[in-house]
Amino acid sequence: MRIDVVSIFPSYFDGLTLSLMGKARDSGILDLHVHDLRDWTHDRHRTVDDTPYGGGAGMVMKPEPWGLALDQLAGSSVSETRPTIIFPSPAGEVFTQATARDLATREHLIFGCGRYEGIDERVFEYAASVGEVRLISLGDYVLNGGEVAVMAMTEAIGRLIPGVVGNPDSLVEESHEDGLLEYPSYTKPSVWRDREVPPILLSGNHGTIAKWRHEQQIQRTRDRRPDLLD
Ligand code: ADE
Repeated sequence: MRIDVVSIFPSYFDGLTLSLMGKARDSGILDLHVHDLRDWTHDRHRTVDDTPYGGGAGMVMKPEPWGLALDQLAGSSVSETRPTIIFPSPAGEVFTQATARDLATREHLIFGCGRYEGIDERVFEYAASVGEVRLISLGDYVLNGGEVAVMAMTEAIGRLIPGVVGNPDSLVEESHEDGLLEYPSYTKPSVWRDREVPPILLSGNHGTIAKWRHEQQIQRTRDRRPDLLD
């Protein structure tokens, strides 16, 4: 999979050289490129924002650098298929594990990180002429820009690409994969600070252990996220 990220703070993404995402990049499974939006400006100050038409607080990201970035990154020189172009936004659809699964099947993702009061609306219209546009929110709260949301989304998507997570079994039994939260985990020692590991886990009976874990998943989901059971 190819991922292009456009941001005015490219160094936010230095963390994607670490751990499993770093390994996926080194091995070529994930072809990830981070770009500075200012590289598509042509004035001395590398300006990416301006005051909003109609007045109001804050600044709006200018369309011209975004247009040039999309022309370059969505062009056929980068991929043969139309890319999926994602703009993180608190006004978008909410990102879930199902969104991650869907996006993990795409060949080419482009993330455009907005800052300030947002991006000139015409950029989204233009992007829809060169790719499939998705506005996606990390949740019902407001961040200072799209960078942190893109970090979260690329990790959630990247780990679903075959080969990124070493043991694919670990993808199956985790929170949200079957609509339930994950069961509790324990390791050695069997007694720690007077707290015992549930004896059933030491029984060696795989059937009863699986049943107990499933019950724990339901109990936790009921307690912490009853909305998931509706
Ligand atoms: N940018 C600002 N807030 C955001 C959010 N909640 N999700 C995605 N992008 C954002």
